[in-house]
Amino acid sequence: MSLVELDGSGKRVIMFGGKGGVGKTTCSATAAVHYASLGRKTLIVSSDLTPSLSDIFEMEIGPTEKPVRGVANLHALEIGPDEVMKRWKQKFGPEIYEAASSLVDMPYDELIDYVALAPGIQEEFMLDYVLEHVKDGTYELIIWDTAPAGDTLRLLELPYKFIEHLRSAPRIYMRVRDALSLKKVPFLDIIESWKALAEEVTSFMRDPQNTEFILVTIPEGLGVYQARRLVKEFHRFGLEIRYIVVNNVLTHAGTDFNRRRMEMQRGYIQILEEEYGDGRKILELPLFAREMKGVERLRKVERVLFAD
Ligand SMILES: Nc1ncnc2c1ncn2[C@@H]1O[C@H](COP(=O)(O)OP(=O)(O)O)[C@@H](O)[C@H]1O
Ligand SMILES: [Mg+2]
Repeated sequence: MSLVELDGSGKRVIMFGGKGGVGKTTCSATAAVHYASLGRKTLIVSSDLTPSLSDIFEMEIGPTEKPVRGVANLHALEIGPDEVMKRWKQKFGPEIYEAASSLVDMPYDELIDYVALAPGIQEEFMLDYVLEHVKDGTYELIIWDTAPAGDTLRLLELPYKFIEHLRSAPRIYMRVRDALSLKKVPFLDIIESWKALAEEVTSFMRDPQNTEFILVTIPEGLGVYQARRLVKEFHRFGLEIRYIVVNNVLTHAGTDFNRRRMEMQRGYIQILEEEYGDGRKILELPLFAREMKGVERLRKVERVLFAD
């Protein structure tokens, strides 16, 4: 059982999610190296605030895409919500101000900051920012190393709230328009374009042709608990998790300590098998002696995750 069956699937976005420290970045970087080596133009994006791609690829990666040293066809990018918000303001700020300043008298920064507080706007533009890179054809595939679980859910949930919020907005602005007896409120056009954007982004993410979500977890009580919660929450948003990577699995007993730990892990892996083995793929990734740094070690992980 391996991820190799995704090779020919034509997915555009593969997201890795799970709690902090379980191996999301390791699995994401491995998948990125794998697809880039197959000749697919790949971008790996990390939206986790703890910079980790820089560590794993042993080079400085920041908020602008950079070619990964030693891996053809692979670019990397580390970007957090603050940076996305900054770009959003640059992109939409002047337009929003021009449109809204006919309605309210507020200094530029205050007005833009106020609009930026709308629920879901940040998540919406994070998704849009990432998807822009596949939609415009710059990359064939995006591997997305997401922030720890709770944030990822927020990311997926809030665009829905954003759409809902925008649905009611036109009515409010209509009333403002009537009250001020204005002919045209340009703000309405902006809201319409955001709504279209938000709907496009959410439907892209929901389409299983485009997107795969892979859960990374560990064979411990907390890992099983997290897996349950995430599978359920994803389902609620109409998204299915079809692959679960169980990381840090002990493979050699050797000592009494290891033997007992292996027993503990087996118990939890069995629970995962029972609950998700039917319909979902469960992949075990062994605990390696050393931490995952550098492309050479990722190749070892690749041989497990993408085994023939
Ligand atoms: N299978 C493994 N064997 C050994 N070390 C691992 C393994 N998976 C991850 N690690 C190490 O564990 C730490 C956390 O992994 P990381 O991929 O950064 O997790 P996350 O991105 O989920 O926070 C890193 O130091 C990484 O090198
Ligand atoms: Mg990480």
